[in-house]
Amino acid sequence: MEPFSRDSDIFRSEHVLRDSYTPDELMEREEERQDYIQALQPIANASVPQNIFVYGDTGVGKTDATQIVLGELKDATEEYDDVDLETIWVNCRDRSSYDVVTQLVNTFRSSSEEISSTGHSTSRVYEFLWEEIESCEATHVVVVLDEIDSLGEDDSLLYQIPRAESIGNLEETHVGLIGICNDFRYRDGLSPRVTSTLCEFEIRFGPYDADELGAILEQRADEAFYPGAIDDGVIELAGALAGQDTGSARHAIDILHKAGTLARRQGASEVTDDHVREAQRLVEESVIEQELRDLPTQSHIVLYAVTALEKADRAPARRQEIYGIYEKVCGQVDATVKSERTVLNRLNKLAMKSFIETTDDNQGKAGGRRYEYSLNIDIDLVVNALRADDRLRDATAGPSLAEE
Ligand SMILES: Nc1ncnc2c1ncn2[C@@H]1O[C@H](COP(=O)(O)OP(=O)(O)OP(=O)(O)O)[C@@H](O)[C@H]1O
Ligand SMILES: [Mg+2]
Repeated sequence: MEPFSRDSDIFRSEHVLRDSYTPDELMEREEERQDYIQALQPIANASVPQNIFVYGDTGVGKTDATQIVLGELKDATEEYDDVDLETIWVNCRDRSSYDVVTQLVNTFRSSSEEISSTGHSTSRVYEFLWEEIESCEATHVVVVLDEIDSLGEDDSLLYQIPRAESIGNLEETHVGLIGICNDFRYRDGLSPRVTSTLCEFEIRFGPYDADELGAILEQRADEAFYPGAIDDGVIELAGALAGQDTGSARHAIDILHKAGTLARRQGASEVTDDHVREAQRLVEESVIEQELRDLPTQSHIVLYAVTALEKADRAPARRQEIYGIYEKVCGQVDATVKSERTVLNRLNKLAMKSFIETTDDNQGKAGGRRYEYSLNIDIDLVVNALRADDRLRDATAGPSLAEE
């Protein structure tokens, strides 16, 4: 194909398959939608809002459902003179409670009056927030905090906001909190003073089954692809593959999107089952690569040591051998050398995540048990992920440390 000629056979609107796209209507989530409507009803009644805790695995529609239902509530309340609703949305990923409160304050302010994310005491920043909320036009402010599990133990915000009316002496404005979370264990770890208010109303989003994913994919495919570029079998297969694996709509949509791009790249006129299977493999690889990248540097160094031994054909290797290379890498990248026991712990954690394979090389009574370690995933995936770690980039470019 000529560069930049229109690749018009496959995608009609590719952006519909991107994560940033929110459909107008959620498929297969009527029960959760009804729960949400019930939980938010007090706002439509101009009464005191309830706090809502929404949880479920990644990619099951929590964020989009919340956006859609709040949009519906906003439209409905336009009709009522005694309700003026303001919703504020903050994603907590990689943020502390302090950063989030600062951002909440700034959503009420013009850019010239924004406060900086340092320089005020925490209690002062909360006071700013109560002042802003009290003086805003709205009768009801709903604060949505998405991905609250990344706040970790720093959950003061989840205590303060549901109590805004009493702590901040608010007289004019009602405040409600919606907390969204994809790690249910996080709820169990919250302090009881937080759970007792935040979890007034809980809504659980379960994983989707293959049929539900099929319906979600069909809705997207109708908009995203040209008629005839994709058939029902392809959608069914993509739904089944994601259904068996994660039950995540994001995963299913990613597979379909990737299958479409493969078909386009090959100049095919339609997406086939083979494209879907190849797409599934590629999506899985990119998930693994992301998980590898997200590991801390010390784990990267341990992985690097095992990779070097693999390259030198010395794997599976015993932990002493790995430790020897590990020490050299630490020297090279100027990292603290941890004890052999700590490195062994890291190796075992990597094995638990299936990145490393452990074999039991039983030497009989005399030799006792000894374990050997090797990579359990494609070496290129590991090397790519390690290259993305700034501290290891130069080391991975150089000659292998195990070939001596
Ligand atoms: N029921 C549904 N109907 C249509 N699209 C859906 C549905 N559920 C999820 N999706 C789509 O799947 C993707 C992931 O959904 P969403 O972002 O809402 O997941 P999430 O539960 O918030 O995940 P995370 O915990 O990772 O933030 C989005 O593109 C969304 O539009
Ligand atoms: Mg989300």
